[in-house]
Amino acid sequence: MSQTTNTSTANGKVIVCGEHSVVYGRDALAAALPCGVEARAVRADTSTLSIDGRRLKPDEPAVTALACIAQTLKTPPCAVDVTLRMPVGVGLGASAAMAVAVTRAVATLYERGCDQETLLRAAHLWESEFHGTPSGVDAACAALGGCLLYNRHRGPVATTVGRPLYLAIAVAGPASSTKAMVARVAAIRERDHRQFELALDHLQTIVQSAQRAVASGAHAELGALVDENHRLLVNWQLSTPAIEQACSVARTAGAYGAKLTGAGGGGCVLAVGDAHTQPLIARAWEQLELQTLSVCIDATSSNDPPQG
Ligand code: PMV
Repeated sequence: MSQTTNTSTANGKVIVCGEHSVVYGRDALAAALPCGVEARAVRADTSTLSIDGRRLKPDEPAVTALACIAQTLKTPPCAVDVTLRMPVGVGLGASAAMAVAVTRAVATLYERGCDQETLLRAAHLWESEFHGTPSGVDAACAALGGCLLYNRHRGPVATTVGRPLYLAIAVAGPASSTKAMVARVAAIRERDHRQFELALDHLQTIVQSAQRAVASGAHAELGALVDENHRLLVNWQLSTPAIEQACSVARTAGAYGAKLTGAGGGGCVLAVGDAHTQPLIARAWEQLELQTLSVCIDATSSNDPPQG
């Protein structure tokens, strides 16, 4: 067995506005996080997958997903080792980051061309093992980086960031299941299609206004839009007492706005701040013993894939 190895990376993401409505063909505004996932691939007789040193059983979904990737790339078996450098299962796109990092590692190991389309297709197959019907926003952020306006029909479009955007993120709740939260929203849609369409239209307006606010650096306006987006997600029963508390603490600490981010039902809260308030928000959360992440999305955030 040859010992050819390589390490590839991919980023996590944060949805600024538009989660869930993106599943129904509307736009979402999302940004890649500076942290993510690393994957190393080595030639092997049978395909195996280890995450943070734990070897997965052959019937676990991630191993099936790895087989899908090998099929897409038409590669022989390999042993893949994943290192997580971000929180998992809390709406920050760890699963898609894993898919993209693993695809890059396998493609590089076997010298397969891996263009953007192949990468997104492989990530979609991987995500389908976990999510059912992923919109693709996580995979697009993981593969492309930067700040994106994403639509599942049109794909990702890179978005201008007019001024550095200071975001504070807290892991407010326990891990939640994206599949279960997407099903919860689908049930709400079934109860009243007309009302649901109106909410989707409202969210579309919020996302488009948020994109303009990010492009022009109007962060107070962005904060108000983030609050409005959160209220609609609350109406869809996606918030929890812990999320509400984290949002309220962030606003008191000076955030322009705060919302749940990702699927909800637990997971993360996002607050829009500035250079002065970002550390104040993080400190207020830390007093609640919440895990926090402070990121600055700037005009130089690259839309080029990270080194594979
Ligand atoms: O898996 P999460 O928590 O990052 O949420 C993904 C965002 C959703 O819009 C809820 C689902 C999707 O596929 O876009």
